[in-house]
Amino acid sequence: MDHWWSMSTKRTDALRVAVLASGRGSNLQAVIDAIEAGIVQARIVAVISNKKDSPALERASRHGLSGLFIDPKPYAGRPDSREAYDLALLDVLRQHDVELVLLAGYMKIVTRVLVEAFANRMMNIHPSLLPSFPGLDVQKKAIEWGCKLAGCTVHFVTEGVDEGPIILQAAVPILDEDSSDTLAARILVQEHTIYPRAVQLFAEGRLRVEGRRVLIEQGKPVGDAVIGPS
Ligand code: GAR
Repeated sequence: MDHWWSMSTKRTDALRVAVLASGRGSNLQAVIDAIEAGIVQARIVAVISNKKDSPALERASRHGLSGLFIDPKPYAGRPDSREAYDLALLDVLRQHDVELVLLAGYMKIVTRVLVEAFANRMMNIHPSLLPSFPGLDVQKKAIEWGCKLAGCTVHFVTEGVDEGPIILQAAVPILDEDSSDTLAARILVQEHTIYPRAVQLFAEGRLRVEGRRVLIEQGKPVGDAVIGPS
Protein backbone atom coordinates (compact mmCIF):
# COMPACT_ATOMS: atom_id res chain seq x y z
CA MET A 1 0.00 0.00 0.00
CA ASP A 2 1.29 3.46 -0.88
CA HIS A 3 1.11 6.30 1.57
CA TRP A 4 2.28 9.85 1.12
CA TRP A 5 2.66 11.19 4.58
CA SER A 6 2.64 14.88 3.99
CA MET A 7 0.87 17.00 1.46
CA SER A 8 2.20 16.44 -2.00
CA THR A 9 0.67 19.64 -3.30
CA LYS A 10 2.63 22.77 -2.45
CA ARG A 11 1.44 24.05 0.89
CA THR A 12 1.20 27.71 1.70
CA ASP A 13 1.36 27.40 5.50
CA ALA A 14 4.46 26.16 7.33
CA LEU A 15 4.57 22.61 8.65
CA ARG A 16 3.85 22.63 12.38
CA VAL A 17 6.67 20.88 14.22
CA ALA A 18 7.22 19.96 17.87
CA VAL A 19 10.66 19.02 19.16
CA LEU A 20 11.10 16.72 22.16
CA ALA A 21 14.54 17.05 23.75
CA SER A 22 16.14 16.08 27.06
CA GLY A 23 19.60 17.57 26.89
CA ARG A 24 22.03 19.79 25.05
CA GLY A 25 19.68 20.48 22.15
CA SER A 26 22.21 20.88 19.34
CA ASN A 27 19.92 19.04 16.90
CA LEU A 28 17.08 21.32 17.94
CA GLN A 29 19.41 24.23 17.23
CA ALA A 30 20.26 22.85 13.78
CA VAL A 31 16.56 22.69 12.90
CA ILE A 32 15.94 26.18 14.29
CA ASP A 33 18.87 27.55 12.29
CA ALA A 34 17.71 25.84 9.08
CA ILE A 35 14.21 27.27 9.53
CA GLU A 36 15.54 30.75 10.28
CA ALA A 37 17.79 30.54 7.21
CA GLY A 38 14.79 29.62 5.06
CA ILE A 39 16.25 26.19 4.20
CA VAL A 40 13.45 24.36 5.97
CA GLN A 41 9.84 25.45 5.50
CA ALA A 42 8.49 24.64 8.94
CA ARG A 43 7.54 26.31 12.17
CA ILE A 44 8.49 24.99 15.60
CA VAL A 45 5.31 25.40 17.61
CA ALA A 46 6.53 23.66 20.77
CA VAL A 47 9.76 22.48 22.37
CA ILE A 48 9.02 20.00 25.11
CA SER A 49 11.40 18.47 27.62
CA ASN A 50 11.21 15.90 30.39
CA LYS A 51 14.16 17.69 32.07
CA LYS A 52 13.52 20.99 33.77
CA ASP A 53 17.02 22.35 33.23
CA SER A 54 17.42 21.13 29.69
CA PRO A 55 19.58 23.50 27.62
CA ALA A 56 17.12 22.72 24.81
CA LEU A 57 14.49 24.77 26.66
CA GLU A 58 16.96 27.66 26.98
CA ARG A 59 17.62 27.49 23.24
CA ALA A 60 13.87 27.59 22.61
CA SER A 61 13.43 30.67 24.74
CA ARG A 62 16.41 32.42 23.09
CA HIS A 63 14.59 32.01 19.77
CA GLY A 64 11.20 33.07 21.09
CA LEU A 65 9.79 29.56 20.83
CA SER A 66 7.30 28.07 23.21
CA GLY A 67 9.19 25.77 25.60
CA LEU A 68 7.52 23.46 28.06
CA PHE A 69 8.80 21.17 30.79
CA ILE A 70 6.50 18.22 31.44
CA ASP A 71 7.50 16.74 34.76
CA PRO A 72 7.56 12.92 34.78
CA LYS A 73 7.39 12.81 38.61
CA PRO A 74 3.59 13.00 39.02
CA TYR A 75 3.30 9.89 36.85
CA ALA A 76 6.08 7.87 38.50
CA GLY A 77 5.15 4.76 40.47
CA ARG A 78 2.01 4.02 38.46
CA PRO A 79 2.00 0.81 36.46
CA ASP A 80 1.15 2.88 33.37
CA SER A 81 3.52 5.74 34.19
CA ARG A 82 5.08 5.95 30.72
CA GLU A 83 1.75 5.85 28.90
CA ALA A 84 0.22 8.39 31.29
CA TYR A 85 3.14 10.74 30.67
CA ASP A 86 2.76 10.32 26.92
CA LEU A 87 -0.97 11.06 27.17
CA ALA A 88 -0.15 14.37 28.84
CA LEU A 89 2.37 15.04 26.10
CA LEU A 90 -0.11 14.10 23.40
CA ASP A 91 -2.56 16.56 24.84
CA VAL A 92 -0.01 19.37 24.43
CA LEU A 93 0.87 18.25 20.90
CA ARG A 94 -2.81 18.30 19.94
CA GLN A 95 -3.34 21.72 21.52
CA HIS A 96 -0.61 23.00 19.21
CA ASP A 97 -1.96 21.23 16.10
CA VAL A 98 1.40 19.52 15.65
CA GLU A 99 1.90 17.75 12.33
CA LEU A 100 5.43 16.39 12.81
CA VAL A 101 7.22 15.44 16.04
CA LEU A 102 11.02 15.40 16.20
CA LEU A 103 12.84 13.47 18.90
CA ALA A 104 16.15 15.27 19.31
CA GLY A 105 18.19 13.73 22.08
CA TYR A 106 14.94 12.79 23.82
CA MET A 107 16.11 10.22 26.34
CA LYS A 108 12.77 8.68 27.15
CA ILE A 109 11.30 5.74 25.30
CA VAL A 110 8.03 6.78 23.72
CA THR A 111 5.04 4.48 24.11
CA ARG A 112 2.34 3.24 21.77
CA VAL A 113 0.25 6.27 22.83
CA LEU A 114 2.50 8.65 20.89
CA VAL A 115 3.67 6.20 18.25
CA GLU A 116 0.11 5.49 17.10
CA ALA A 117 -1.02 9.11 17.23
CA PHE A 118 1.99 10.16 15.14
CA ALA A 119 2.55 7.09 12.98
CA ASN A 120 4.98 8.10 10.22
CA ARG A 121 4.82 11.64 11.57
CA MET A 122 7.45 11.26 14.31
CA MET A 123 11.17 11.17 13.57
CA ASN A 124 14.24 10.37 15.64
CA ILE A 125 17.94 11.02 15.11
CA HIS A 126 20.35 8.34 16.27
CA PRO A 127 24.17 8.46 16.21
CA SER A 128 24.82 5.14 14.45
CA LEU A 129 24.18 3.53 11.12
CA LEU A 130 21.08 1.60 12.14
CA PRO A 131 20.30 -1.25 12.42
CA SER A 132 23.85 -1.47 13.84
CA PHE A 133 24.14 -0.21 17.38
CA PRO A 134 20.71 0.78 18.64
CA GLY A 135 20.59 2.07 22.23
CA LEU A 136 23.18 4.03 24.16
CA ASP A 137 26.96 4.67 23.98
CA VAL A 138 26.86 3.68 20.36
CA GLN A 139 29.95 5.58 19.20
CA LYS A 140 32.05 3.67 21.76
CA LYS A 141 30.44 0.39 20.70
CA ALA A 142 31.21 1.05 17.01
CA ILE A 143 34.89 1.74 17.80
CA GLU A 144 35.18 -1.29 20.07
CA TRP A 145 33.58 -3.51 17.44
CA GLY A 146 36.28 -2.43 15.01
CA CYS A 147 33.94 -0.79 12.52
CA LYS A 148 35.53 1.37 9.86
CA LEU A 149 32.38 3.39 9.31
CA ALA A 150 30.01 4.95 11.80
CA GLY A 151 27.37 7.57 11.15
CA CYS A 152 23.88 8.68 11.96
CA THR A 153 20.33 7.82 11.01
CA VAL A 154 17.07 9.71 10.85
CA HIS A 155 14.15 7.31 11.06
CA PHE A 156 10.45 7.26 11.70
CA VAL A 157 9.61 6.17 15.21
CA THR A 158 7.91 2.87 15.88
CA GLU A 159 7.43 1.01 19.14
CA GLY A 160 10.72 -0.87 18.83
CA VAL A 161 13.57 1.34 20.02
CA ASP A 162 15.64 2.68 17.08
CA GLU A 163 13.85 0.27 14.75
CA GLY A 164 11.63 2.42 12.56
CA PRO A 165 11.90 2.91 8.78
CA ILE A 166 15.08 4.74 7.82
CA ILE A 167 14.68 8.14 6.14
CA LEU A 168 18.29 9.35 5.75
CA GLN A 169 21.72 8.20 6.82
CA ALA A 170 25.18 9.75 6.69
CA ALA A 171 28.39 7.78 7.05
CA VAL A 172 31.48 8.95 8.96
CA PRO A 173 34.84 7.11 8.85
CA ILE A 174 36.24 5.80 12.12
CA LEU A 175 39.89 6.79 12.48
CA ASP A 176 42.47 4.72 14.35
CA GLU A 177 43.01 7.57 16.79
CA ASP A 178 39.30 8.17 17.47
CA SER A 179 37.92 8.26 20.99
CA SER A 180 34.16 8.04 21.41
CA ASP A 181 34.16 11.82 21.96
CA THR A 182 36.03 12.69 18.76
CA LEU A 183 33.89 10.30 16.76
CA ALA A 184 30.67 11.61 18.35
CA ALA A 185 31.69 15.17 17.45
CA ARG A 186 32.19 14.28 13.77
CA ILE A 187 28.94 12.32 13.68
CA LEU A 188 27.13 15.27 15.24
CA VAL A 189 28.16 17.51 12.34
CA GLN A 190 26.38 15.08 10.00
CA GLU A 191 23.35 14.85 12.31
CA HIS A 192 22.96 18.60 11.98
CA THR A 193 22.88 18.22 8.21
CA ILE A 194 20.56 15.26 7.76
CA TYR A 195 17.95 16.08 10.41
CA PRO A 196 16.89 19.42 8.92
CA ARG A 197 17.05 17.82 5.48
CA ALA A 198 14.66 15.06 6.55
CA VAL A 199 12.27 17.66 7.95
CA GLN A 200 12.32 19.56 4.68
CA LEU A 201 11.69 16.36 2.69
CA PHE A 202 8.68 15.72 4.91
CA ALA A 203 7.50 19.32 4.53
CA GLU A 204 7.72 18.95 0.76
CA GLY A 205 5.63 15.76 0.89
CA ARG A 206 8.43 13.71 -0.62
CA LEU A 207 8.60 10.82 1.86
CA ARG A 208 6.68 7.66 1.11
CA VAL A 209 6.69 4.72 3.50
CA GLU A 210 6.46 1.28 1.95
CA GLY A 211 6.84 -1.37 4.59
CA ARG A 212 10.30 -0.88 6.06
CA ARG A 213 11.42 1.39 3.23
CA VAL A 214 11.08 5.15 3.01
CA LEU A 215 11.14 6.20 -0.60
CA ILE A 216 12.13 9.74 -1.45
CA GLU A 217 10.29 11.34 -4.30
CA GLN A 218 12.84 12.66 -6.76
CA GLY A 219 13.45 16.34 -6.77
CA LYS A 220 16.25 18.58 -5.66
CA PRO A 221 19.46 16.74 -4.60
CA VAL A 222 19.36 15.80 -0.94
CA GLY A 223 23.13 16.08 -0.49
CA ASP A 224 26.47 14.35 -0.92
CA ALA A 225 26.88 12.88 2.54
CA VAL A 226 23.58 11.10 2.33
CA ILE A 227 23.38 7.51 1.28
CA GLY A 228 20.19 7.36 -0.69
CA PRO A 229 18.60 8.82 -3.77
CA SER A 230 19.50 12.28 -4.92
C1 GAR B 1 22.63 13.17 19.52
O1 GAR B 1 23.89 12.65 19.19
C2 GAR B 1 21.54 12.20 19.13
O2 GAR B 1 21.82 11.51 17.96
C3 GAR B 1 21.56 11.27 20.31
O3 GAR B 1 21.72 12.10 21.43
C4 GAR B 1 22.45 13.26 21.03
C5 GAR B 1 21.65 14.45 21.41
O4 GAR B 1 22.37 15.62 21.16
N1 GAR B 1 20.35 10.52 20.40
C6 GAR B 1 20.30 9.27 20.80
O5 GAR B 1 21.28 8.64 21.18
C7 GAR B 1 18.92 8.66 20.77
N2 GAR B 1 19.01 7.23 20.79
P1 GAR B 1 21.67 17.02 21.15
O6 GAR B 1 20.85 17.12 22.44
O7 GAR B 1 22.80 18.00 21.13
O8 GAR B 1 20.81 17.10 19.94
